[in-house]
Amino acid sequence: MLKDPTKVGKIWFDGKMVDAADANVHFLAHSLQYAGTVFEGERSYGGQLFKLRKHTERLFSGADVLGFSIPFSMDVIDRACQQVLKTNGLVDGYVRPAAWRGSDKVGLSPIGASVHVAIAAWDWPSYFSPGKKMEGIRLTHSHWRRPDPQTAPTQAKASGLYQICTMSKQIAEEQGFDDALMLDYRGLVAEATGANIFFVINGKLHTPIADCFLNGITRQTVIDIAGLRNIEVIERKIMPDEIATADEAFLTGTAAEITPIGSIGDIYLKPGRVCQQFISDYSELTSGRSESLKV
Ligand SMILES: Cc1ncc(COP(=O)(O)O)c(C=O)c1O
Repeated sequence: MLKDPTKVGKIWFDGKMVDAADANVHFLAHSLQYAGTVFEGERSYGGQLFKLRKHTERLFSGADVLGFSIPFSMDVIDRACQQVLKTNGLVDGYVRPAAWRGSDKVGLSPIGASVHVAIAAWDWPSYFSPGKKMEGIRLTHSHWRRPDPQTAPTQAKASGLYQICTMSKQIAEEQGFDDALMLDYRGLVAEATGANIFFVINGKLHTPIADCFLNGITRQTVIDIAGLRNIEVIERKIMPDEIATADEAFLTGTAAEITPIGSIGDIYLKPGRVCQQFISDYSELTSGRSESLKV
């Protein structure tokens, strides 16, 4: 059991396993000053990291978008993720790799800055409380909007993009909600602060086109499962006033897994058969129990 990964256990840091308390970064690190970290969130089920290579690929492509190269191969990072889990005695755990520019460049220009990678792991059984997961979480509306892809590198899992997410999440929780729904720069429904969103309307799945936010790995998995279940998925522009037409809705993400939504603002939804089907399919898939649902 690893409850506080900043104090207990081991962290893989630039190729070496170090004590968690020694895995430190100077406050003048370029990425800390200028929001240039890329990171991942991965879950292991029964000791197996689900879609590990896809997460590693996204870490590398995000670094590429931000203009730096990770000084390790993808194979090394994959093995390091597995090693961190094992070394910390975690079977069902959450793994957080991150890559950032170091403190050897203090100005705005990142050229020539060193690049570092670290990987931590900890227990994170459920992102939202399990009870809430059954009845559906409560979302409020965020006033922050997901930016235009020409304003920010929206397809990278980059720390700078999370500024508005953490602010939205803070306001939501302070007001007694679990999370917030964010619109995009055009006023279309986008996603929650750390998870994608699906609506069930007349037995079909409707989800916003991921053209200015992360096309989540769980989102893609849900689309694949829907294909195997012959459930039509419609990726389209969704206006906020269409939420009232939904029969069910749920969030998807590595941390959130499949989380039913009970309300969005003053619109109430009832988690039903379709949510339950996807929760059960996703659980079968991640546990490696399902032969028919290999996606
Ligand atoms: C903003 C945001 N959107 C969506 C997702 C879902 O992505 P994934 O399913 O790859 O975890 C995440 C989680 O990483 C996220 O932080």
